Amino acid sequence: MVIALPQLIIGSMSSSSACFRDVTVGGVRIIQRLHGNSRVLGRQFGDSCHRFYPSFDRGYTGVSADTVKASTLGCSALTSSKIRHISRTSSAGRSESWSVPLSFGSVCSSSFSTATEHRRRGKMVVVPSVKLNDGSEMPVFGLGTYLSKENEGVEALRHAIDIGYRHIDTAFFYQNEKEVGQVIKEKIAAGVVKREDLYIVTKLWNIYHDPAKVEEACKKSLDNLGLDYIDLYLMHFPVGYKFIDDNHLLPKDEAGTLQLSDYDYLDTYKAMEKLVKKGWVKSIGISNFNSEQTDRVLQNCEIKPVTNQVECHPGFNQKKLIEFSKQRDIVITAYSPLARPNPAEKKPAFLFDEKMLAIAEKYKKTPSQIALRYLIDIGTVPIPKSANKKRLEENINIFDFKLTEDEIKVVDSFHTGERINPFNLVKAQNHKYFPFALEF
Ligand SMILES: NC(=O)c1ccc[n+]([C@@H]2O[C@H](COP(=O)([O-])OP(=O)(O)OC[C@H]3O[C@@H](n4cnc5c(N)ncnc54)[C@H](OP(=O)(O)O)[C@@H]3O)[C@@H](O)[C@H]2O)c1
Repeated sequence: MVIALPQLIIGSMSSSSACFRDVTVGGVRIIQRLHGNSRVLGRQFGDSCHRFYPSFDRGYTGVSADTVKASTLGCSALTSSKIRHISRTSSAGRSESWSVPLSFGSVCSSSFSTATEHRRRGKMVVVPSVKLNDGSEMPVFGLGTYLSKENEGVEALRHAIDIGYRHIDTAFFYQNEKEVGQVIKEKIAAGVVKREDLYIVTKLWNIYHDPAKVEEACKKSLDNLGLDYIDLYLMHFPVGYKFIDDNHLLPKDEAGTLQLSDYDYLDTYKAMEKLVKKGWVKSIGISNFNSEQTDRVLQNCEIKPVTNQVECHPGFNQKKLIEFSKQRDIVITAYSPLARPNPAEKKPAFLFDEKMLAIAEKYKKTPSQIALRYLIDIGTVPIPKSANKKRLEENINIFDFKLTEDEIKVVDSFHTGERINPFNLVKAQNHKYFPFALEF
């Protein structure tokens, strides 16, 4: 990620995030969002900037509206009618944005979705993507949905999509796949996003580790979501639970002890590979796997896991697992990236630390934003959950600055080595595949 130079991001009406053109003009980095058949004419763009934004160049070194013309832009294609929002951030962290007047262009003149309104007001954030080991792309920031249920979750997800969230993390276990699917359907029908703009992640729950049950479990998630395919299907945990029926997600005996199963996660994973071959899921991955389990999968799989989704936040920063995974071309998705804040108890400590507050003050951001930006800067993909509009906006608003090496070291120092999700409450730590007995 690249925010060292002054930066100009050109968003467009359609929110497909298929690819970004990346050019530098007069010291300004220009990331131009291209997609489908949208072809962009540099001259039209330069002229449009000049016409609509005469102050385009003010205060920025080496840039003038004139320089942003076809020839210097080096763009051979630009459909000015598709530009709806222009923003840029100076190296000093100052950001400016413009919305293209509605009379300009043809695309969004009629229907006004909330998303369009957000784009118009410059509130829409374009999240970059990371290329995964199977060639697919994952937005480097997503929305967690655990404990987002029913109306609250639906409203939150609607707003999240409107303001630029594209990567949505759910799970069979969260029992909210239907609500997630309902909002996806609604937003596609309203023309806010296309299916291919979204990156939908769900997970195989522990009661379905029997390889013979994996296909059935995936089908249930597809049906719940109302989708033809899932972008990423994760094995939620390497430990399996006994299957009683679909409603017993945490099967317990009469004494209240969790009932485990001893299916080998490797066999479960192999059954998940078949889902890729069937076209039901685009990518597969793992969650809560330790380094040895990851290597065992890698040594025996046909299709590599693209990600390992694990707890990761400044208090438990997973530096060793991140490095280990990077060497194997596996991206770490950071769950509980804010360590589930509890302001009344001033937890987690890193959000209330004075050094954290000083960094936040410097960038005019909140400590939560610094924590999330840190996770991006150390190469992970954070997926904070929020059902609150203001916090949804706050959390995604982290792509206009970058921490320095020294600031990263300060945040590194908040590592305590303590998980907030030890999973020991469910007695799974007695299982042979319990993942958290190793250091990483
Ligand atoms: N694979 C796994 O085993 C696993 C395990 C746990 C989680 N996950 C995934 O990771 C996602 C995120 O993890 P998480 O939900 O455990 O923890 P989290 O995202 O660290 O914390 C969520 C909590 O933080 C609050 N919050 C959100 N933004 C905030 C902000 N800017 N300032 C202060 N508080 C804020 C939320 O409240 P409001 O809603 O009121 O904003 C919510 O209570 C989950 O939703 C789930 O999708 C996966």
